[in-house]
Amino acid sequence: MSDLDVLLQEDRSFPPPPQFSAQAHTAGADIYRDAARDPDAFWARMARELTWIEPFTRVLDWKPPHAQWFADGTLNASANCLDRHVDGPRRNKAAIVWEGEPGDRRTLTYWDLYREVNLFAKVLDRLGVKKGDRVAIYLPMIPEAVVAMLGCARVGAVHSVVFGGFSPESLRDRINDSRCKLLITADRGYRRGQVVPLKRNADRALEETPSIENVIVVRRRPGAEGDLAFPEIVEGRDHWWHRLMHDAEHDGESFVREPEAMNAEDLLYILYTSGTTGKPKGIVHTTGGYMTGVAATTKYVFDLKDEDVYWCTADIGWVTGHSYIVYGPLAVGATCVVYEGAPDWPDKDRFWQICERYGVTIFYTAPTAIRAFMKWGTEFPARRDLSRLRLLGSVGEPINPEAWMWYHEHIGGGRCPIVDTWWQTETGAIMITPLPGVTATKPGSATVPFPGVSAALLDSLGKEIPEGGGLLALTRPWPSMLRTIWGDDDRYVQTYFSKWEGRPDLYFPGDGAKRDADGYYWILGRVDDVLNVAGHRIGTMEVESALVDHPAVAEAAVVGKVHELKGQAIAAFVTLRSGHQPSGELRDELREHVAEKIGAIARPDDILFSADLPKTRSGKIMRRLLRDIAEGRALGDTTTLADPGVVASLKEQYEHQE
Ligand code: WTA
Repeated sequence: MSDLDVLLQEDRSFPPPPQFSAQAHTAGADIYRDAARDPDAFWARMARELTWIEPFTRVLDWKPPHAQWFADGTLNASANCLDRHVDGPRRNKAAIVWEGEPGDRRTLTYWDLYREVNLFAKVLDRLGVKKGDRVAIYLPMIPEAVVAMLGCARVGAVHSVVFGGFSPESLRDRINDSRCKLLITADRGYRRGQVVPLKRNADRALEETPSIENVIVVRRRPGAEGDLAFPEIVEGRDHWWHRLMHDAEHDGESFVREPEAMNAEDLLYILYTSGTTGKPKGIVHTTGGYMTGVAATTKYVFDLKDEDVYWCTADIGWVTGHSYIVYGPLAVGATCVVYEGAPDWPDKDRFWQICERYGVTIFYTAPTAIRAFMKWGTEFPARRDLSRLRLLGSVGEPINPEAWMWYHEHIGGGRCPIVDTWWQTETGAIMITPLPGVTATKPGSATVPFPGVSAALLDSLGKEIPEGGGLLALTRPWPSMLRTIWGDDDRYVQTYFSKWEGRPDLYFPGDGAKRDADGYYWILGRVDDVLNVAGHRIGTMEVESALVDHPAVAEAAVVGKVHELKGQAIAAFVTLRSGHQPSGELRDELREHVAEKIGAIARPDDILFSADLPKTRSGKIMRRLLRDIAEGRALGDTTTLADPGVVASLKEQYEHQE
């Protein structure tokens, strides 16, 4: 029986605990029914929970595949996250409870954050950053990352956050694609006790980024050991964050920088993500619909209350950090824990130590982390008091029932509902998920669409599959959907709305799923050439381009293979140019080469040298067969191959190697 069949025979079901349901935001209302009756009216109601400068009168304009939401309204995202709270009882409430990996700590109240963001918005003004300008952010998980994002939103600049683990080249390409004017970075970050030299990486990127006029550098830890190794500061271009903030604070004027009135459809941010080509795409999110989607899902999926201490362990460089560390939780006035470092530093109970220290009540993480915790053993969570937890979340990849059950028992103490949330960079907000006080959960299933969201399982011709396996589709537009791909609207139409002929209204996320007799969705994973390694999206083509960039490599094919902890691992099949011989050193060199080109998350686990790659007679590499080899399965159909001998010898070689 395959893993899949096991997953689909999962028949455990957990009804929502009655005490949870009784206190939940959903108590006493049937928001599924309300939303089903009139989804647009439901979203309009959610949108009205935001603070608008000019209220909208239009809800949805849908010219498939382009949607506009609340298009005649104006608002500001930072004002929704800050101003409306500082005018009320949340003024002195902790907004961000931050802990650095070395153990340094900071708490910012809503008022503190409001002040910092206003000052930073003034800094942006002074550097000539205008509404619509793009700003790149390449920072560790420090409060300044949140301040930088909200500062951009305040002045109407479009931020493009680049994960701090990405390489200089990746940063350079992202800056150039959207022609960012300003880069915000830090002298360093910390990861597993190591210093990450962000500014030094940024300097390498900056050699080839003509659009950048200014660079702001945060001093991550003044006075820390090794502080003498200051990054180089280029006069006139580079500015210390603390100096600029100091000047803005002492300019003799009020610190307040009024929020820019943004049209609902004005851009809030661009976030690059991997697709099926070698070039990451800039996903475009706008202001009104995005804020509506993230605020509504944060409220109902995480059931956030004023007393909660909420912790999402994602990095701000990914969409989960954007939607569920910054915009969603701050829009609803939550207290958010933000942690800089790794879960196993200095010891494997770091996360549970943080949960205990701050009394975390809602915890949101990825299955890959849960599987690592399982492997490390129950002694680590058992050391700490986790009794304040009341709700757990999972995101980023399918969660296997075994990990779900472990999470439920050993972290949630058997009492906390688990919300397994399916969504994507492109969807902006959670799309398929339980509502914790309402939906009975099943280990391994993301359950049902969020109210106002419509999904279906379709076959390749677009026929609906009521029960069984198929392609996942979203069948109605939703407010937080991507609006386009930066600079490439054709690719937007092609990638997301051209899967089913003549149906430009159907969104194709690239995932396969099954649906059971209760109508629950079980997400099976990507059906395209996108890998999901430890919850991170990586395109096979990106890794292939990085490999063929090495002088020894003639051709490369990359596939994902099942990995116990990471979900998927990267396996690469490489043919060498003449004059180069396979060797252990070359294998290591190629792995490093990919890490340097893209970032450590893309470093292949396996590299197999081969004289040839299995191709069809028309010259197409048969990745399916390579996956069979990498996962040690019997080979599928090889009759269409130009030379079936190639794959047989590859298989033998692969098995021999392991
Ligand atoms: C996968 C992360 C199963 C899926 C928010 C999707 C999931 C891709 C889940 C998006 C889940 C995300 N269950 N699979 N709960 N959540 N995925 O853009 O394949 O980094 O297409 O967004 O992650 O990854 P992205």
